[in-house]
Amino acid sequence: MADGTSFALNGKTVSYRFHVDNTTGDLYGDHFGGSVTGDIPLESVGDVNGWVGTPGRVRREFPDQGRGDFRIPAIRIRQSEGYTVSDLQYKSHEIIAGKPALSGLPATTGSKEDVSTLVVHLYDKYSDVSADLSYSIFPNYDAIVRSVNVTNHGTANITIESLASLSVDLPFEDLEMISLRGDWAREAHRERRKVEYGIQSFGSATGYSSHLHNPFLALVEPSATESHGEAWGFSLVYTGSFSIDVEKGSQGFTRALVGFNPGHLSWNLPPGETLTSPECVSVYSKDGIGGMSRSLHSLYRKHLIKSKFATSDRPALLNSWEGLSFDYNETSIYNLANEAAEVGAKLFVMDDGWFGEKYPRTSDEQGLGDWVPNPDRFPNGLEPMVKNITGLKAANSSTNMRFGIWVEPEMVNPNSTLYNEHPDWVLHAGPYPRTERRNQLVLNLALPEVQEFIIKSISDILSSADITYVKWDNNRGMHEMPSPATDHAYMLGMYHVFDTLTSKFPDVLWEGCASGGGRFDPGVLQYFPQIWTSDDTDAVQRITIQLGTSLAYPPSAMGAHLSAVPNQQTGRTISVAFRGHVAMMGGSFGLELDPAEMPADDKAALPGLIALAEKVNPIVLTGEMWRLNLPEDSNWPAVLFISENGQQAVLFVFQLSANIDHSWPRIRLQGLDAKASYKVDGNASYTGATLMNLGLQFPFDGDLGSQVVMLEKQ
Ligand code: GLA
Repeated sequence: MADGTSFALNGKTVSYRFHVDNTTGDLYGDHFGGSVTGDIPLESVGDVNGWVGTPGRVRREFPDQGRGDFRIPAIRIRQSEGYTVSDLQYKSHEIIAGKPALSGLPATTGSKEDVSTLVVHLYDKYSDVSADLSYSIFPNYDAIVRSVNVTNHGTANITIESLASLSVDLPFEDLEMISLRGDWAREAHRERRKVEYGIQSFGSATGYSSHLHNPFLALVEPSATESHGEAWGFSLVYTGSFSIDVEKGSQGFTRALVGFNPGHLSWNLPPGETLTSPECVSVYSKDGIGGMSRSLHSLYRKHLIKSKFATSDRPALLNSWEGLSFDYNETSIYNLANEAAEVGAKLFVMDDGWFGEKYPRTSDEQGLGDWVPNPDRFPNGLEPMVKNITGLKAANSSTNMRFGIWVEPEMVNPNSTLYNEHPDWVLHAGPYPRTERRNQLVLNLALPEVQEFIIKSISDILSSADITYVKWDNNRGMHEMPSPATDHAYMLGMYHVFDTLTSKFPDVLWEGCASGGGRFDPGVLQYFPQIWTSDDTDAVQRITIQLGTSLAYPPSAMGAHLSAVPNQQTGRTISVAFRGHVAMMGGSFGLELDPAEMPADDKAALPGLIALAEKVNPIVLTGEMWRLNLPEDSNWPAVLFISENGQQAVLFVFQLSANIDHSWPRIRLQGLDAKASYKVDGNASYTGATLMNLGLQFPFDGDLGSQVVMLEKQ
């Protein structure tokens, strides 16, 4: 709703309000929180005649630079004369039913019934630069999505030095911030800290969203828990370097900025051109951190992930990586696929090691870029082998096996035909050495010829045989970029490649991967409905990683595999049931081992675990997730998934260490219908009220116990 120059975006339980200040033409923020209606009392600002001008004492909707607001700005433009002052004043606005696409960038989508958009046009008359702020509200999800278009209407080039997709000033002094930090093989560890005076920042300067920090921020009231209290979630739909800043200023307001990393921007904007920022999704919940996550989950499942597999059953798979590594050929791959079929897997994925003619990929030292089958390993190409594998029937079913393949198309090993032919296709900065990581360099996807090469190579592979699954990997960060702006130019090229290939091959189930979860972000999810969550397959550590990832991302998006013991990353031995139960909390359940190498009892357990994973999969894919106990706080992490129609639920409970001479844990469920009765594992029935207020008790023996419990509404 726009009333003169006051704006109100209302969701089911959220309101977002701001207005135009008639004196300055600036936008002032009024409210982002629980519903407010009608007139609202505006912030009173006393007479200002001190160091900090009025703009520094108010809640600003799109803080520009200069003019007395000394907090961190949402936009910083360097004009040709060198000025970095802007004066972006309200000019006009429009309301659009639905949501226009974002030029060249991934974005949430929806029909006129799902979403409406307010565009506020700002103009700096001194520099002839406009900024259009687009706000889309998805009322059913209490989600507001913002992006910014900056256009140069002047006659000289300007440089966009920083641009935040989201900028919001909350009128609270006491907030805490939650982010997801990590590194390779320990992604998505929750970090919760007090918002202090000054600026607290995190982000990625790796060129990609990265394992180090995720493009997600939650602000919560200090007493907020999983199920109580106010929580705001901010999630950037972008895969490049990003920056998130939280600043508590002198007036006690808390400013949050989410957007491009200014260190990787310096975007040259010639006259007549526009820079479009990625969009930032903001959600608000009164029902704690869990409520915030559930809004993001359902929004992303229904309005972000484009794949037809977003919410459809995913085949239980077996991936060759931890079982065979680089060491395989046509026969051993077929044998492994056969083993996979015998234990009931429905999809076989051939990981790294199948390609390279002159530089065969027998280790990570060579071959990337040469996307043709290794003739020694596959003398007849892939087709006959794929045919044999897709002719296998998964045990106890009439389903034919599907075949999937690993690729890492954005990279090249210097030891490759591609690099010999096109050394200029890689990111490099003049005379500086091209530093290698994992013996590889990054192709510059900003170049149209590189985009075309990748589209053609992958199309050729997919057309060469019945391949219906692709694991798209990316195993290093960007080092020597020719300019800071290369990162975003690369992203635009990369999204073009993703969009072209996923549109051309809609029946392929695409999985993203970047040394595990190095690119677990909403930008990738637009095109790939699932992402390999981590290269750490240790089931105990996976509970932390998967529950951390679920702060912002739906469980449907997580690839999770049962791997061999002792675990390759941690050396720990955990029962096959525990390993399987943790993996089935991810939307894409799989095995990452060679069944022939397993102890007989473990191998015998696989068909039952796969059957259970298939039973719970529809609930995990489409249901609501309730994190009942977190591994950081409890010896008994527990998660409940409730199906969309509320008829079924599945509870996962784990015991981390042995419980000696102490009562057994009682797990109190959430989100059920208090009055309804639920049959628990086909036995006793209890009311939702009993299950939520008293809970169920679980006896476990020793370390590392696990249980999966099915609930059926009567
Ligand atoms: C990365 C991925 C792994 C595997 C290897 C293959 O590390 O995360 O799952 O595919 O590459 O080289």
